Order: sequence, then C-alpha cells, then structure tokens
Amino acid sequence: MTSRRRLLQASAAVAAGAGGVALVGAAALHSDCPERQEVPAHLRGAAPLPYAQLISLDLVSQSAHADILRIAYRAITSIDKGDIAAWLALGEGAFPARVGRPRHLKKMPLFAGDILDPAQSHGDLLLHITGSTARAVQHAAERTLRTLPQQHVRWRMNGIRPENRIEGGRGLAQNPFHFTEGYGNPAADEEVTERAIVKAGHGEPSWAVGGSYQVIRIIQLATGFWDRDTVHEQERIIGRRREGRWLDGTPSDERPVFASDPHGKITPLDAHVRRAAPDRRNPPPMIRRSYNYHRNPDEQGLIFCCFQRDLEKGFEAVQHRLEGEAMAKYTLTIGGGYFFVPPPGDAWLRALTGG
Ligand code: HEM
Repeated sequence: MTSRRRLLQASAAVAAGAGGVALVGAAALHSDCPERQEVPAHLRGAAPLPYAQLISLDLVSQSAHADILRIAYRAITSIDKGDIAAWLALGEGAFPARVGRPRHLKKMPLFAGDILDPAQSHGDLLLHITGSTARAVQHAAERTLRTLPQQHVRWRMNGIRPENRIEGGRGLAQNPFHFTEGYGNPAADEEVTERAIVKAGHGEPSWAVGGSYQVIRIIQLATGFWDRDTVHEQERIIGRRREGRWLDGTPSDERPVFASDPHGKITPLDAHVRRAAPDRRNPPPMIRRSYNYHRNPDEQGLIFCCFQRDLEKGFEAVQHRLEGEAMAKYTLTIGGGYFFVPPPGDAWLRALTGG
C-alpha cells in the first residue's frame, strides 16, 4: 500500500486534455421542454455537462435542519437552468433521527485498498453543480454557498470531462488514462431509468420513489506510471481498446463473448471490464457519469460518480468484483461518499421536514 501511495505521489502530471472539451447538445439537454419537470437533473440528457463542482457540506446546525434543507433546495433549484444542471444529494447525516432514511443509505464503507481521507469523504449534503463552462459552474457554486453561510464545507472538487460528446445515444468522455469512458452505459432512456431510479414496491419510503443513490469515489490515478506502459499493456488492463473496441475486435457498442475466451487469452480475466461486467447479458445496474480532476501539479484522478436504484446490486457488487483487478496498482481511492438524490419537485422536502 505504501509503495502504491508513493507511486501515485511520484506520478508525473500529464495534461488532462482540458483544452479539448467539446460541448455537444447542451442546448438540447437544457431546453425548457415539458418533461423537464419529470427527469431528474442528474440524469437529464444523454451526456453530463463538461464541467462540474461538487461541494460536500456538514450541517453544523442540526437544530435548524429543516430550514437548511429548504434553503439548500431553493438555492439549487434557482441555479438549475440555462447552462447549469444542478442537484442536491443527501448523506446519511441528513437524517439525524434515521426517520425516513432511504433503505440503503449509510456511510460509505472502506473497500479493499481504500485510504479514505476524512477531509475528502462523506458529508451531510452534496451540492452537485454541472455546467457548460467552468466559469458558469464557479459562479453558480458561489451563489449557492452565499445562501448557506453557516454550513461547513467539508470538501470541494472541480471536475472536467474532456472530449465530452454523445455517440449512439451514449455520453462519452476521455479519462486521465486516455481511454474513452461511457460505453457500458445504456443508450435508451428506459434502461437508464431501470438502472438508476428508485421505484415503488422496493421497501423505500414513498418520498424517495423517483430518486437515486449516488456514489462518489475520489480516485487518484498514477498517470505517470501508467503512461510508461505500452498502449497494448494498457488495453489488456482495461479490456477494451482506447477508443472502445473490444480486444477480440467486437465493435464498441456490441457485446463480446467472454465465454469463448475462458482462460483470458484475449481479454485477461483480471481486466477492468471483464471484472466489472462478466455477464454481458446482465450488465451492472448502474449509470456512470464520472469527471476527471487535476489538482496540485502532480495529482490527477477520477471523480467517479454513479447512480443506481439499489446500492448493493449496483456499485457495491461491482466494486467487490474489481478487487484484485490488474488496474488496482494504478489507483488509490482517497475520498467520496454515499448520497441520495431526491426525486424532482419538493414533495420529498415536505415529507422530510413536515412542511
Ligand atoms: C479507477 C478508475 C477507473 C477507470 C480509469 C475506469 C475506466 C473504465 C473504462 C475505460 C471502461 C470501458 C468503457 C466504458 O464502458 O465506459 C470502464 C467500464 C466500466 N467501469 Fe470503470 N473505471 C474506473 C473505476 C470504476 C469503478 C470504481 C467502477 C465501479 C465500482 C467501475 C465500473 C465500470 C463498469 C460497470 C464498466 C462497464 C463495463 C461494461 O459494461 O462493459 N469503474 N471503466
């Protein structure tokens, strides 16, 4: 572990490709269409907007809890328009008496290899602000924070999606390892809903129906170390070509047949995608919408972000399967948390605050 940390620290900075951001379809994603009220901000449109800021808050004043939730909700909905898509997500600390807490919501546990920094983990309230420019995001974040002056900012991260685009209905971007991400997400809206949105009849409080569990993992990536490997080696670690094609030549948007390669001669058994989604007919029930981050001269990584209706079947099942994957020695998870994004509208707020 120590050597992994050293390796990550020693990792040389590589430009995140921030200059190459292309905003595709922002207007379409954010027009005031009638369904706007129905689709939660975090899943609106096929691709996330290219810039993000995540602000995790500790609710200092527990006595004024209900008021703070109302103020935060008003602030976030007032910026969620035009070139900004923003939402609020609740940590387990937002439910001091556990009353009404979503069934799976808990403090994010430690997974194998994690070294969680408390100053970059968890939080009672997450403000997730995305936008078409870094400036618009920063402005919206400052405006929101001014309305919550008494609350303690626990951690705050800026993210970016280089080469953000939509192809075949999927939002794609380039991660700091130079690989295209997003193919594993579904192109069809119904499948997005099926994987990410809580529905009635699953033992969740009724206010939570229409919401999603959101997982954030702040993952340092040893980009310098990674860049010393050949592209061929990197592709065997991920299990796809950089541009998305499968290692057996299957096109990026089709399914490979892992069963015809039982010993991992073509796609190694410890490759990321093979561990993440071994059964091609039953893809992991989660939607990934991550951002790259680059801070300090030599720290790059992924603000891994995923949404699901069931934390155990979604993120946790995949995370456990990834233990021991070939990519593990290039990554170190240092923060993040578990949150719940309430459904659109304010019925949830009335249910939780009694008015
Ligand atoms: C450590 C940083 C990570 C990197 C650099 C990374 C990279 C990638 C890449 C390049 C792909 C293939 C393209 C795609 O389908 O999007 C992929 C797929 C995937 N990753 Fe990751 N990933 C990371 C972390 C994670 C984590 C923490 C999880 C969940 C616990 C995860 C779950 C998945 C899933 C479910 C797929 C889709 C598999 C499929 O359907 O083929 N990844 N990842």
